[in-house]
Amino acid sequence: MREAGMESVTIAVVGSGYVGLVAAACFAEIGHRVICVDNDESKVKTLREGGVPIHEEYLPELLARHRGDRLEFTTDLRAAAQAAQAIFIAVGTPQSRTGSADLSYVDAVASEIARAIDSYKVIVEKSTVPVYTNEWIRRVIERNGVPTEMFDVTSNPEFLREGTAVVDFLQPDRLVVGAATERASQLLKSLYAPLTSGEYYKLTQAVPGPCSEKMPPPLLATSTKAAEIIKHASNAFLATKISFINVVANICEAAGADVEEVARGIGMDSRIGPKFLRAGVGYGGSCFPKDVAAFRHVAETVGVDFGLLREVEKINEEQKLRFFQKIRSALWTFRAKKIGVLGLAFKGGTDDVRESPALDVVKRLLHEGCIVTAFDPAATERSKEFLPPSAEMRYADDPYAAAQDADALLILNDWQEFGELDLAKLHYTLRYPIVIDGRNLYAPAQMIEQGFTYLSVGRPGLQQPADPSGAFRRAQTKDDATV
Ligand code: UDX
Repeated sequence: MREAGMESVTIAVVGSGYVGLVAAACFAEIGHRVICVDNDESKVKTLREGGVPIHEEYLPELLARHRGDRLEFTTDLRAAAQAAQAIFIAVGTPQSRTGSADLSYVDAVASEIARAIDSYKVIVEKSTVPVYTNEWIRRVIERNGVPTEMFDVTSNPEFLREGTAVVDFLQPDRLVVGAATERASQLLKSLYAPLTSGEYYKLTQAVPGPCSEKMPPPLLATSTKAAEIIKHASNAFLATKISFINVVANICEAAGADVEEVARGIGMDSRIGPKFLRAGVGYGGSCFPKDVAAFRHVAETVGVDFGLLREVEKINEEQKLRFFQKIRSALWTFRAKKIGVLGLAFKGGTDDVRESPALDVVKRLLHEGCIVTAFDPAATERSKEFLPPSAEMRYADDPYAAAQDADALLILNDWQEFGELDLAKLHYTLRYPIVIDGRNLYAPAQMIEQGFTYLSVGRPGLQQPADPSGAFRRAQTKDDATV
C-alpha cells in the first residue's frame, strides 16, 4: 500500500482478542505500522513465534505476511503508546452481574495510556461500549494530568463477525468514525483511506470480497456518542431480527407452513432484506447476548424502558428450550440414549463456544442421562473446557463417527460441511435414521426421500400427521409438560 502513495500511520492496538488481533493484522495489510499489545505474556509469545490463537479465515496468511515487518507484538503498552499516533482500545467488555458492560479493563488501559502519553494521540474505542464511555475515558486521562490538547478520544466501532472477520474488516458495508475534533477525524479517515479510496482493492493480493475500486465502502463521520450507539443498536437490531423470525418459525410449525418460504417472502421486501432471517436454535456468541443486555441497561440508565429487548432475550432462551422439547418428542425418553451431535461452536466457521446454544443443548442432554458423541471442525478443544471428555461426553473426529450407532443425530450449528453430508452413509451409520436439525440445513423432502425422520425448525416434520391438529401435536404438548 505504501507504494500506492498512501500515508502510513503507526498504530497501537491494545488487546489481541478477536477484534484486536484482526484489526491489527488488517491495519498492517492496508499499509500501516502496527504494534499489538497484550498483557498475556504467553499469548504474545505465541503470536511472535507464528502461532494463531483463533480460527479465522485469512488471518494466518495476513499474520504471516506482516509479522516482523509492519506488525509486531509486545506486552509493553507504554512503549507502544509512545510510538503510536493512534491507540486503539480493543480489550474485553464482559457482561457484569447486572447485565451492564464491565468497563474495568477499558478504565485500566485508559489510565495506563494516560501515564505514557508524551505527544498528541488519538485514542480510539474499538471495543463495544455503552454511550458515554468516550467521556469517561477522556475524564480518566485528564485525571492523570494529561492536558486536553494532547489527546482526543474517538469511537470507531467494529462490525466484524467471527469466522468472516478479516473479510468484514477489509470489505465492510460501512465504516463509522465518531470524533469531536477535525484533527482526530482526519487521522481516522486517513487510516481507512486505502479502503475508502478503493486503492486496496486494486492489489492482486487483496483479500477478496464485495468491495472494489469502483465500489469502495462508505465512511460515515458522526459524533462519538452516535458512533457508540450505532454499534449497540446494530447488534440489538440484528438479534431482534433473529428472535422475530424464530417466533414466526414457531407459528409456521404450528400452522404447517415452511419458515424458509416465509423468510424468503419477507426478505424480498427491500425495506426488510433477506439477511439474519434464518430460524434456528437461537443466537449465541460473545456479542449478541452481551450487547442486547448491555443496550437494555444503557436505555435503563438514561430513563428509557426498552422492553422490546427483554422480549428478544426471552424468545432466545425459549427457543433453546423448544428445540430440546423437539428432541424429546422424537426420542420419548432420554436415559442411556446415544445422541450424535454436529456442531459445538455458536455458529459455523468459528472455534468460539461462548454462549453457544449447542453447548446449552448438550448440557441438557447430559443432565437427562444421554450419552453424547459430538463433532465440530474447529471447536472441540474449546468445548472440552466446559464439557470435559467422559464416558457420557465423547468427541468424534468426523461427522460419521459422531453419528455411529446413535439413536438420533442433532445438527446444532451451520458449518458448510454439515449441509453436505453423504446421506446414504449417514443413514446406515445411525442406529435409527433420525435427524433433528437446529439450523435447517436440509430440505425436508430430500431427507424424507432418503428415509430419515427429519425434524427442523419452523417446518413441517416427518412425524407430523396430515391433520395438523392431530396426535403429534398433542404428544408434543404432553411431553412439554414434563420438561
Ligand atoms: C455479531 C455481529 O454480526 C457483528 O456485526 C458484531 O461485530 C459481533 O456480533 P458474530 O457474533 O460473530 O457477529 O456472529 P453472527 O454471524 O452475527 O451470528 C450471531 C448469532 O446469531 C449466531 O449464533 C448465529 O448462528 C445466529 N444467527 C445469525 C441466527 O440464528 N440466524 C441468522 O439469520 C443469523
